[in-house]
Amino acid sequence: MRNNIHSLLGFFMSIFLLISCQSNQKNMVVFSPDGNIETEFGLNKNGGPFYTVKYNGDVLIDSSFISFDFKDIPSLKDNFKISNINTKKNDSEWKMPWGEQSTVRDHNNELKIFLEESTELNRKINIIFKVFNDGVGFRYEFPEQDNLGEVLITDENTEFNLTEDHDSWWIPGDWDIYEHLYNETKLSEIDAISKRNHPNLASTYIPENAVNTPFTMRTADGVHLSFHEANLTNYSGMTLKVDPENLSLTSELVGSERLGGKAKLSTPFETPWRTIQISDRAGDLIESKMILNLNDPNKIGDVSYFTPMKYVGIWWEMHIGKSTWDLEGSQDMTTFTEGEASAKGHGANTENAKKYIDFASSNGIKGLLVEGWNTGWDKWINTEDREGVFDFMTPYPDYDFDAVVAYAKEKGVEIIMHHETSAAPRTYEKQMHEAYDFMKKNGMNSVKTGYVGKIIPKGEYHHGQWMVNHYHKVLEEAAKKKIAINAHEPIKATGKRRTYPNAISREGLRGQEFNAWSVERGNPPNHLPIVAFTRMLSGPIDFTPGVFNIKLDGYREESQINTTLAHQLALYVTIYSPIQMVCDLPEHYMIGDKIHPMFQFIADVGVDWEQSKVLDGEVGEHVAIARKEKETGNWFVGGITDENARTQIIDFSFLEEDKTYIAKIYKDGPDAHWDDNPLDYAIEEVELTNISTLKLNMAPGGGFAISLIEK
Ligand code: NOJ
Ligand code: CA
Repeated sequence: MRNNIHSLLGFFMSIFLLISCQSNQKNMVVFSPDGNIETEFGLNKNGGPFYTVKYNGDVLIDSSFISFDFKDIPSLKDNFKISNINTKKNDSEWKMPWGEQSTVRDHNNELKIFLEESTELNRKINIIFKVFNDGVGFRYEFPEQDNLGEVLITDENTEFNLTEDHDSWWIPGDWDIYEHLYNETKLSEIDAISKRNHPNLASTYIPENAVNTPFTMRTADGVHLSFHEANLTNYSGMTLKVDPENLSLTSELVGSERLGGKAKLSTPFETPWRTIQISDRAGDLIESKMILNLNDPNKIGDVSYFTPMKYVGIWWEMHIGKSTWDLEGSQDMTTFTEGEASAKGHGANTENAKKYIDFASSNGIKGLLVEGWNTGWDKWINTEDREGVFDFMTPYPDYDFDAVVAYAKEKGVEIIMHHETSAAPRTYEKQMHEAYDFMKKNGMNSVKTGYVGKIIPKGEYHHGQWMVNHYHKVLEEAAKKKIAINAHEPIKATGKRRTYPNAISREGLRGQEFNAWSVERGNPPNHLPIVAFTRMLSGPIDFTPGVFNIKLDGYREESQINTTLAHQLALYVTIYSPIQMVCDLPEHYMIGDKIHPMFQFIADVGVDWEQSKVLDGEVGEHVAIARKEKETGNWFVGGITDENARTQIIDFSFLEEDKTYIAKIYKDGPDAHWDDNPLDYAIEEVELTNISTLKLNMAPGGGFAISLIEK
């Protein structure tokens, strides 16, 4: 009943004024279009701005204050009065050039509050709230004004005061790297300083008990919340400082020792949006497009030069130690050090590239990534001075660039460029224009970039304002040259792919490669069932699925992938990216001279979707997603589980009526187990319609994948 009253209020009024109990100023309330989410804004008796968020009438975020500290000038904190307000109802649709779905609805109620100090300085700041059915976003706008020009922000203090001790899934608030294992604890037990979970990643800085975002929680009533930011542009990334005792979070911006603060700006400017996703169903967090809706529309026009695709790569073989990036074969990725020349040989040689091209073209894979093709790899690790090391135009002598390009073209395979910057962005900025021209001249439309190591110059961090601006510049320059970017060690995704759809995918999580390096660093079976509800809320992931040699036989036999084979197939559907790597070595997809029967799913699965539906899932436990391929209308379903075996019931009512589909089911065999028996699988073919249901058993660490092709 309470729910209905709120819906009605929301529908008819959506925005109205209340008399505050805290001061004699009026509070403002804005509802989501369906009335379920209610955001209130007000000023306390000192004129300090605060907001609250309710969901179905229950307080989710209690009075949370907002303030800014600056270098050399007084904080913006108290003594505000409201000088004006604006309200708006927004409801529109836009098209994704590629994505999880083709059309997105942007539906929200907006409230803009104009604040000014009642003191002599009379400084101004505006706060804009957009309340959607699936959450709340708000940002700060600093208008041009006499008493606030250039500022160095030393702290943004946006509070998120929770009301109960929720279940929380988090990684440490790292200024550089998001490649940590997730922790599942109560909010009150978050301890990011001692639970870093990143053995051997040298390039991290974690100054506070803070978490990186997206940060996902579940209340005792089963409401899901996730905190993040949208449109991180010319500002520094936000981590969330945790006060475990008071169940409270406060924005903690990434700093810069060179700057002596967090972000340097001149009015007028606006901050990124602070976002709170709210939903009952865990799966609705994944289906939400709120973060994209808080970004500006496409600014770069047509991006059809980029085709969503699957790709193979001279890549995994370096990570498992079969070959190396450098010419002499003397580097070891497991220890991240220079070793004895191991004579394993250089991976990126002409003959090897042709072998991958042959495999791709015979198996319907459209792309090939070649890492280690260019000079510089002999000096990229363990040196402080990585400036000027890489050359993005000069191939190693055993890699006949022109011959490989010509061969790929003849076989209908597109080469994906690789630029490892070794976290020396100034070197990259000097070369990128020419490097992009060189790519285009050779028919290459996308590049995987990388930023391994500590940022040069010292004192800057991957997620600070200086690097935010670097990653932005790369997107803009690449867009001018019609090039798409897949960044590793990236800036976190904040939905900018809407504005710059040449931002196709990125890493920014603990990827498959960790499984190759060592046992301790491997991803446990619950990794991706957590990632789907945390990192994936921010955008596409270049996770690089598809390992068939699960135990790394013949290579690092002490390491392994901690999933079953069927789980690897399911990742092509569950973990979204418009480019999906088929990451294992070609020979591992073969049994004798025949392709492995499970490979058929990888060959068939789509990469660009008309629509996506999360069928089932619980954070950290399991998730099942169905996606409809854009051009063919075929459906693909993937499901994964953590270390627990589960039975998944799939109701196919999402299929179109009066159509019969041939469903090919790739699943765990009866004895499958991620550790004891990861290769046990079964394949089954059945006919299905929209009234069918299926019951599928997932093994511990297992999963399933289904292709549904209309009969
Ligand atoms: C780290 C990236 O994540 C990985 O994919 C790449 O192979 C290495 N850097 C070398 O660039
Ligand atoms: Ca990485």
